[in-house]
Amino acid sequence: MVGHSSLSCRTLGNSARHSVKLLDWRASAILAQLSQPQSLRQVTPPPQVGPETAYQFLNLLWATGFLSVEAETPDLKLWEFHNLLFHSRCRQGRHDYPTADIAGSVDVWEQFPVAKPPMSGQIIPLPQLNIDAIRQKDKTLTTAIEKRESIREYDDNLPITIEQLGELLYRTARIKEIYTFDAEQQEMLKAQFGEDFDWGEISRRPYPCGGAMYELEVYPVVRRCQGMNSGLYHYDPLNHQLAQIETEEAHIQALIKDAYQSSGEQGMPQVLLIITARFGRLFRKYRSLAYALVLKHVGVLYQNLYLVATNMGLAPCALGAGDSDTFAQATGLDYIVESSVGEFMLGSLPNQDIDNNDDLDKDEKAEAHKAAFPDSLLKRIHGDNHACHITSTIVGQENTPSPGLAPNCRVINVPLNTTGTDEEFISPIILFHLLQIPNLDIFHLKVRITLRYGCLY
Ligand SMILES: Cc1cc2nc3c(=O)[nH]c(=O)nc-3n(C[C@H](O)[C@H](O)[C@H](O)COP(=O)(O)O)c2cc1C
Repeated sequence: MVGHSSLSCRTLGNSARHSVKLLDWRASAILAQLSQPQSLRQVTPPPQVGPETAYQFLNLLWATGFLSVEAETPDLKLWEFHNLLFHSRCRQGRHDYPTADIAGSVDVWEQFPVAKPPMSGQIIPLPQLNIDAIRQKDKTLTTAIEKRESIREYDDNLPITIEQLGELLYRTARIKEIYTFDAEQQEMLKAQFGEDFDWGEISRRPYPCGGAMYELEVYPVVRRCQGMNSGLYHYDPLNHQLAQIETEEAHIQALIKDAYQSSGEQGMPQVLLIITARFGRLFRKYRSLAYALVLKHVGVLYQNLYLVATNMGLAPCALGAGDSDTFAQATGLDYIVESSVGEFMLGSLPNQDIDNNDDLDKDEKAEAHKAAFPDSLLKRIHGDNHACHITSTIVGQENTPSPGLAPNCRVINVPLNTTGTDEEFISPIILFHLLQIPNLDIFHLKVRITLRYGCLY
């Protein structure tokens, strides 16, 4: 057992740090009794240690600042034991453990490549994106920061799409470039660590990361996303694709339900992004600082997700606590090697009154109205408009000066494409019945011709 004194260097007037190693179990046994505040008289000395020795031992620790006899102040009471220990260990000042050290982790170095290999053969490619095109239409950073808020409700009739999920991941978490440290950087690292080391491949991504180690991974859990089946996926930031992970439906539901409860049960996320850390990738370099760095990285990624989701018109909300054991069961990942360290809820914005939204200008309102309809419905409306137009051109319109080309003609419009999908075409049975209609002069078939920039009917 090692004890650390809270007496600062300034108090003792030198730069030494103070720790005491307890090598005899009986010393630890005495201290263990002080895990709860109590008087010296209540302490039971262990075998072969008289009360006087125990008293002298505790007195020595107290005089050198290792023990306190003060009642806990209200400020101190706010600290959970593990929080204060964590705080003191992941900052410098109260310990002399190494904050960065590579020698201790050399034997596991190779297990943590720059990018995690695809987790299954079930690959779902995500639409490729052009950052310049996004930049042209994107709202400003100030807009994103000012407009950003946590939204926990969604429009399940019009869920987030695979294109939107892909764009969000691309803009927040992809690998932009892989490189190796150049000679100058190698020299700097050698000076810092005292060793020449092969750091392997390093990556650049849209968010910053201590030592450019990038240990975080993103796992979308999909409940409802247009263009994707529900399930558990891993985002491959190098190839910008998802790999589906086989798991039981019950695990997926448990993860989504956990998020739903954490957010005050306002809405079930359409997609839950679970963020994990491949601990070794970061721990190999930073020692006592490492876990704190992981959590800082989660915060950095959260902010990226918030801002981009806001500009994309999605509903974002970070979560503070997920169940790492449930995630380990769902994926089969080893809790010690790679655990979940953050969760982020995502979905389409809830139904909104677009016309009365003062944040939107005229063009944005038109866009928002259009975006409020699924693609298939827009195609259907477009097709029906067209059919109506053709019919009125032929037979004219009642009570208007438009006589039409052939006012006495009998015309029937056939709803060819009722679902708005490209594949749908008239069924032979409907066609047969059509041809049986007596005195029919024209029937109007809709033909879809796909062009480069759209389609004609
Ligand atoms: C690290 C972090 C953890 C959060 N945890 C939760 C959470 O568990 N449940 C929740 O509903 N919101 C959570 N939030 C969202 C906050 O409640 C929200 O950011 C805060 O209330 C401020 O509101 P705003 O984001 O709309 O500005 C979290 C946010 C952050 C950054």
